[in-house]
Amino acid sequence: MRHPGLTLTALALTAAALSGCNKSASPPPAADQSASTAAPTPMSDADKAKAQAALPAPYNTADLSNGESKFALCSTCHTVVQGGPNMTGPNLHGVFGRKAAASPDFKYSDVLKASGWTWDAARVDTWITDPKAALPGTKMTFAGMKDPKDRTDAIAYLMVMTGFKP
Ligand code: HEC
Repeated sequence: MRHPGLTLTALALTAAALSGCNKSASPPPAADQSASTAAPTPMSDADKAKAQAALPAPYNTADLSNGESKFALCSTCHTVVQGGPNMTGPNLHGVFGRKAAASPDFKYSDVLKASGWTWDAARVDTWITDPKAALPGTKMTFAGMKDPKDRTDAIAYLMVMTGFKP
């Protein structure tokens, strides 16, 4: 009686260890692999709508598709995805709530480094209205987005795409 009992216990322990292994140990390496080799998953429209709903007014009710098309003017120089490259301008992921000129590996102008600004929606709004007027000497050679509604829409899109945290 002793011997079969021990065998069953050993089998049960082995099974428990294996199932524990399958549940906890296996998925993380697979997830790590996909994180290091694959591009970040693009946000679905449902993800974007959910992120927009969490924004402060008036950005929560802005026209996100108009914002996306206006942001095309910005994306000639800026990427927005996490870990995206710097181009003529710095990657903007996580820019809201961050100090100006804080992205590592981007060579900012001295005036932006010395600005002491922290980026919030109002600051970005003034900035993209006319960067050269907002900060004489900036390296951002963008003529400006004059329509207030276009700015609100583009900023809402930027907030959604750069992981704005309320
Ligand atoms: C012609 C290229 C170009 C375009 C177009 C452009 N930017 Fe920029 N942007 C830059 C550069 C260069 C800087 C760095 C400025 C400096 O160092 O003075 C910058 C800086 C910024 C920053 C500050 C980033 C930080 O880390 O402090 C924000 C925010 C920004 N741009 C938003 C926008 C938005 C929104 C648009 C579209 C409305 C836009 N930019 C269009 C080139 C561009």
